[in-house]
Amino acid sequence: MTGEIEFDEMLDVSSLKGVGDVTAKKLREAGINTIQDLMLYSPIYISELTGIPVERAEKLVLQAYERLKDLGLAPPDFASASDIMERRKARKYITTGSHNLDELLKGGVATQAVTEFYGEFGSGKTQICHTLAVNVQLPEEQGGLGKGAIYIDTENTFSPDRITEIAYHRGLDPNEVLKRIIVGTPYNTVILLNMVKKLPELIKKYDVGFIAIDSAVGPFRAEYLGRGRLSERQQLLNRFMHDLVRIAEVYDVAVVITNQVQERPDVIFGDPTKPIGGHVVAHAVTYRIYLKKSKRPNLRIASIIDSPEHPPGEAVFAITEKGVTDPED
Ligand code: GTP
Ligand code: MG
Repeated sequence: MTGEIEFDEMLDVSSLKGVGDVTAKKLREAGINTIQDLMLYSPIYISELTGIPVERAEKLVLQAYERLKDLGLAPPDFASASDIMERRKARKYITTGSHNLDELLKGGVATQAVTEFYGEFGSGKTQICHTLAVNVQLPEEQGGLGKGAIYIDTENTFSPDRITEIAYHRGLDPNEVLKRIIVGTPYNTVILLNMVKKLPELIKKYDVGFIAIDSAVGPFRAEYLGRGRLSERQQLLNRFMHDLVRIAEVYDVAVVITNQVQERPDVIFGDPTKPIGGHVVAHAVTYRIYLKKSKRPNLRIASIIDSPEHPPGEAVFAITEKGVTDPED
């Protein structure tokens, strides 16, 4: 209709009060195109990225937040418990491929959340990521979202052959499935952090519903060695984790990160069942799942750790040519 602002224009940074051509250009150069993108960063960080004074960045963030609430794209500041329940219901779930594991997770891997799978080598973390990258593409009635995936592969273990096999055994066209998985291979944490900044654009461009980061914590541990660099590492890890949480919430995608356990015999107090990353990772992730091997070579045991929404429990799943499945499936 003439004279009315289109929905997309309401989401563009240039539609905010006080954003002229120059400010809009600065924001765009920093990868901030929409008011949703503005919600990803703190005003201090926006100021660092763009050169806009912090006070102005603060005003822009607040204005963007009000706009998102008006448009129904952000929850109100205060809400009744029943409204919160409604928003939770809007959460969608991607099937892991195993009913047992889905049940443990109350439906599968959730959008608007960061789910961490951690465990020792060979416990199935990479296989879960591969299976989810295929399953997200299934239609909703089959446990998918009918959307694409982004796979950030920090360990060089992403395998198109394995995707082909899993897709084939689930009745999907492997070539179509491969086309809808966008793979990033960062060589170091600087590139990894930079890739995270590009995620919003990629999510929109490729209609993405699932993001895997395999492994997420490993690169930080590898690069920031020793006690002397611990606080620097934790600071970066903190920003990384918070960016992921915001992206999951703002863009309604399911984010899965993988992590290893502290299995260093030289560290006396290293608990072999504890994930790496300390409080920073523990506080940021929405759900943590601990994976263990079992006596049967293709079976794995998953336990949910410290979840406010899930009773403690375990699930047994299998890894086969189909990817993740139930035992005897
Ligand atoms: P790290 O990355 O080393 O910490 O381990 P991870 O937890 O990522 O282990 P991953 O997911 O790679 O699981 C490895 C296990 O999955 C292997 O030990 C195999 O048992 C199984 N597996 C891997 N690839 C295949 C496959 O193509 N077919 C089948 N049937 N099983 C596989
Ligand atoms: Mg792996």
